[in-house]
Parts: sequence; structure tokens; C-alpha cells
Amino acid sequence: MPHSATLGDPEDGALRVDVEAAASVPRERRVYLEVFGCQMNKLDAELLLGALDDEGYRVTDRIEDAGIILYNTCAIREQAENRVFSKVGGLRSLKRQHPDTVIGILGCSAQNHQHDILKRFPWVGIVCGPGEFLRVPELILEARRRGQVAALDLEKPVHFVRKRNLGPNPYQAYVSVMRGCDMACTYCVVPRTRGPEISRPVREIVDECRALVADGVKEITLLGQTVNSYGKRLGPGRSVGLHHVLHELDRIPGLERVRFITSHPRFMSVELIDAMASLGTVCEYLHLPVQSGSDEVLRRMRRSHRIDHYYRTIDLCRERIPDLGIATDIIVGFCGETEKEFEETVELLERVRFQNAFIFRYSERSGTPAAEWPDDVADDVKRERNQSLLDLQLAIPAEERAKQVGTVTEVLVEGRSKTDASRWAGRNRRHEIVVFPAEDGEDLVGKLVDVEIDRATSVTLFGKRRAKAT
Ligand code: 5AD
Ligand code: SF4
Repeated sequence: MPHSATLGDPEDGALRVDVEAAASVPRERRVYLEVFGCQMNKLDAELLLGALDDEGYRVTDRIEDAGIILYNTCAIREQAENRVFSKVGGLRSLKRQHPDTVIGILGCSAQNHQHDILKRFPWVGIVCGPGEFLRVPELILEARRRGQVAALDLEKPVHFVRKRNLGPNPYQAYVSVMRGCDMACTYCVVPRTRGPEISRPVREIVDECRALVADGVKEITLLGQTVNSYGKRLGPGRSVGLHHVLHELDRIPGLERVRFITSHPRFMSVELIDAMASLGTVCEYLHLPVQSGSDEVLRRMRRSHRIDHYYRTIDLCRERIPDLGIATDIIVGFCGETEKEFEETVELLERVRFQNAFIFRYSERSGTPAAEWPDDVADDVKRERNQSLLDLQLAIPAEERAKQVGTVTEVLVEGRSKTDASRWAGRNRRHEIVVFPAEDGEDLVGKLVDVEIDRATSVTLFGKRRAKAT
């Protein structure tokens, strides 16, 4: 059994990599990689690790042993970006000690700040945007020859197919259906860092999923920045949508669960809702960011959906899929957000009663349209608004989950509970965490089991196993 290390936050679906092989290669072929940000970044890191492996590079979990140090960055909020830049700042003395070390900043922050990074950190050798990951092995050689190199093209088609599944466990995998984003939300840096939307052909996605299932994967999460707008510009002839992909995947024997993240309210088509309602593999889970409960704020955000439309979409989804768990993203303190506008977001949370809400304080991003306007909601007001939504979001799911006591839910077991090793933890089809006692000598990882719920908190369901695992 190879010793493996996790890359990224283990609480948040880190990558599994074998770090033992690093001992068999010289320092200049040992790579240390840290991954920040969203699932898309983790998937890009899987692509990158495949390309590096092919060229004889091996991953180490010890930065001091590495001849190559790479950061796959996230630019979505200032805090995420500053974390990486402070790490890179701290590498100056390591580079002085080992001048042949190649340090690379990859991904969204690289794309966003481009050549400025090379000026600010002269000890950085590679700046590489998300469209050029497969060139990293070649960039390492070039940086060794020339000192500093940049690769920032976003227009080139990326060959998406990943070689092996390094996802958090062998039973779950992420598959990208598209890259980039065609929307123009005024606060968001993504269209700038990931470029325009490009969908993969249906056949390519289905083939990749088939190969993953043949390898033991039971649950696939399809990824896209606006995943439900999938299919734009996919050649002449009949129009293609995400529902076509879902219908194809539903036919793969052995595939138990399919999810897709993240959806945009504007593209929730009836065909997609029908596919969710009718296909056995598609889970009862929808991540549908609303961002604000105020039409005025949505207009300033250039969100291209309005609150009425959002409510109608939610009502339709719930009518067709009664068990649906809905998650959302909210930004508080966007430019000019008044108390009244904020109260409209509170009302929205109370009315929709989300299973989960990811709440962010607005963070100004250079190069976005909103960066031209005053960031005029004071920090302490942003913090207060953030906290009051968090408090509300602690109460609502707790009340909703309490209603599940006495019911039975199907769980895909992911591993032992982080807080209590005598229990198993996994997720049900609504993507809720479910924890139940482990029995001696039994390995349930990757198994589907039925659990009867006897207790609920705001984030977790607790219960007892009912039936045999499959
Ligand atoms: N400031 C704060 N939150 C942001 N998001 C995107 N851009 C910003 C920003 N500038 C949030 C949105 C998005 C999620 C991924 O991150 O809510 O849905
Ligand atoms: Fe950013 Fe808006 Fe695109 Fe989402 S839809 S990635 S928030 S621009």
C-alpha cells in the first residue's frame, strides 16, 4: 500500500497522491504542490499531476525536499490571494539556499496579475494561467534555462481528459463539462481569469465517466462555472444541454449518483428540472447561487436574474423534486448595499430555507467593473451582516433537519468521522453529512448503506445503520 498524502484541505476533499515515489527521483524532479480554491482548481491540479507524472516528476509532501514548488491559486477574494502571496514571499530565503529551485504560481491569480507577479517576486520562475497547465513540464525546463517564464493564453482549447482519479476517495470523482464563464457579474474576476465558456462534447464527457465507473467510481460531480448553461456553441445541428449529458450518464451501469455544480438561475431549463426529477442517478441536490435578495443589488451585480424569477424557479424545482436540497451563495456588503437591501436578503433566506448557504463578504477585485465603484460598505457593517446571515443559516437547517428524525436516508460512506473515529461518515443524496456507529472489522468506505436518522444538528445527521451495504 503506497503511502499517500493529501493535497489541499483534507476537510474539503483534498487530492490523494503517492508521495513515496519521490524518494526515487533526484531533487530537481520532486514537486511540492499546494492547491487553493474551488473544485475546478483541484481538477486542474489532477490534470497537472498527470502531465508531470508522464514526464517523470514525482510529488513530495516536504517542501524542503522539492526542486519545484507550485501553487495553484484562487483569485475570487482578496483573502485567498493574500494567503498565497504571503507563502510565496516566505520562499525568498529557500530560493537563496537552493538557487535551482523553480517556484511557480499557477491558476487564477497568475492569470489576474500576470507579469506583475514576476516583478514583485523575482524568485518566482513560472507564472501560468489556468489555460496552460499542460505546458508546466516544459515551463519548468524553460525557467531553469531563462530564469522567469509566463504562459497566459486563455483562448487555446484545453485537452480536458484526466489520466487518473486523484479525487478525495476512489469512489467519487469530479468531471469538468465546461471551462470558463460567459457571464459578466460585476464583482467577479472569473471571466477574466478563466476566459470565455467552452463546453466539452457530450461523447468525451460520457467516455471519461465510463472509464471512471469501470475504475470503481460510484458518484460523479459534473463541474462548470455555470454548469447548466452547458452546450453553448457545441457545433451546428440540434442544441445540446446539460440534460442530454445527464440522460447519457444515467445509462452507465454501476454509476449510482450524479451531481452538478454550480448552476446559474438564468439557465434552469424545464428540460433540466425534468431530468433531475426523472433520472434515478441524478441526486436531489441543487447549488443555485442567488447572491442577493434585492433586485437593485442584483442589477448592480449584473446578475441577469431577478428575485421573482428565482422564487419561481425554486418553487418549480420543489414541486417536481419534493426531496430537493438547495444550496446558495450570498455576497453581503456589495457596493452601495443599504440596510433595506440587506434586509431583503434576510427575507429571502427565511422564505427559501436553504439547506446550505455559503456567505461571503464582498471583496473588491482589480480588473472587475465593480472595482471602479466605491467599496463603500464599512468593514464592520459587512462583518455584522455576514454574522447575522450565518446565525440565521445555523438555525434554519437545524429546524429542517430535525424533521428528518425517524426517516431513512441512503449514505455513500466516505470514511471515519473526523471528530469520532468510532463512527462512519458519508453523504446522502441531498449532500448532507450523515454519521453512524462503526462495527468491528467492517470496511464500509465506498459502500451505500441505509441509515435511520435519530438526531440532527445544523450541519450533521446522526443515526443507525439499517440494511446491508451494497
Ligand atoms: N467578493 C466576495 N465574494 C465573491 N464571490 C465571487 N466574487 C466575489 C467577490 N469579489 C462569491 C460568489 C460566488 C462564489 C464562488 O464566490 O458568491 O458564487
Ligand atoms: Fe463569476 Fe458570475 Fe461567472 Fe459565477 S456566473 S463565475 S459569479 S461571472
